[in-house]
Amino acid sequence: MKKSETNIFFKNLQDLFCGKFIRGCKERENAFKKENLINVLSPGRVNIIGEHTDYNLGLAISVAVNKYIFLTGIRDDSNKVEVYSKYLNERCKFSLDKIGYDEKTQWINYIKGVLKEYIKNGYKIGGFSIVIDSNLPIAAGMSSSAALEVGIAKFIEELFNLKVDKKDTVKYCNSAENNFVGVKCGLLDQFTVAYVKKNNAIFLNFKDLSYEYIPFNLGENTILIIDSNENRNLSDTEYNNRIDECKNAVKIISSITKDSSIKSLSDVSLDLLYRLEEKLPEKLFRRTRHVVTENNRVLLLKESLLKSEIKKLGLILLKSHNSLKYDYEVSTERLDFLVDEVTKLKWVYGARLMGAGFGGSIISIVKKDKVSDIIEIISKKFLKKFAEAPKFIECLSSDGTKRVSI
Ligand code: GLA
Repeated sequence: MKKSETNIFFKNLQDLFCGKFIRGCKERENAFKKENLINVLSPGRVNIIGEHTDYNLGLAISVAVNKYIFLTGIRDDSNKVEVYSKYLNERCKFSLDKIGYDEKTQWINYIKGVLKEYIKNGYKIGGFSIVIDSNLPIAAGMSSSAALEVGIAKFIEELFNLKVDKKDTVKYCNSAENNFVGVKCGLLDQFTVAYVKKNNAIFLNFKDLSYEYIPFNLGENTILIIDSNENRNLSDTEYNNRIDECKNAVKIISSITKDSSIKSLSDVSLDLLYRLEEKLPEKLFRRTRHVVTENNRVLLLKESLLKSEIKKLGLILLKSHNSLKYDYEVSTERLDFLVDEVTKLKWVYGARLMGAGFGGSIISIVKKDKVSDIIEIISKKFLKKFAEAPKFIECLSSDGTKRVSI
């Protein structure tokens, strides 16, 4: 997305802001000057490899996509927060003294959860009004929730001049999702969205929270995301159940081996796993095999990316998909259909489901100049099978969450 396009989004939000919030409210009228508005741009994340490894303290490589949540607002002297989502055409008001879970308006809980974390950690926050828009598909495996969490975190840090270490920002946002929203997700999404840089992928190690930037250049190829239109909230899926299964597997493995240094599935080698095959419940064996082999695939993909070996990279994605489908069991008929059909095309090097699974999107690596042919062919086939067209996004890499001036 070009700067001029993001500017249009922000200009529209600012105009809306003036219309929705300024008229009739003394506190805000006093605070309001267009130049006082804080604008934050927060991208979605595209995970290239390393699925369900984050909460197993493993590895992943991801980028930010040039689709965003846009946030614009100002502070005032009240202790009230007022949020309007242009995207959903919904408005919410609440007091900072009493931040309770909202059963009806699910999306506001991501914002409330983050504010609660900052307050709990001793940061001084006052009232504010904010309008939000998005061109990032929601609940499609591109982490719109993390984009919103890190976006609101950056917004209040700028608004109230809070000095916060970026790793803490990531932890607060993650904790909001774990403890307020109720999804026990790992750090992949918030970490990527907060840290990644344009034209780079980020190599993440969840064991020690170290990271490394890898130049991201696919040459004549590009990432094509295909959204299956099977939208879901992770809280309504088996996601938390997978986390429990992994914890359970760690317990059993460390007790059989009497090795207390095994703290997560990422401490298990493939050799050890096969030695334990008979002793582990079959399902937990497969869950563990996914995590162990996925971590290996992250390392292999890192090498291919550095050497620009696109064919190898594509094959690694396919292996990852099979592992997610058979061992981790998080694929769906639509996701499998998309991966199967898209990888039949000679311009496609590989594909896999992206994010948690249970619906959402797939990621594919394709020849840039064939994107429109691929879209045409896959749309027709998908439409025939599922009576609706999927959505396509060509992923250009982007910076992580940042304040922008327009
Ligand atoms: C979701 C979660 C992440 C991660 C992925 C699967 O996106 O939010 O923490 O677990 O699923 O890799």
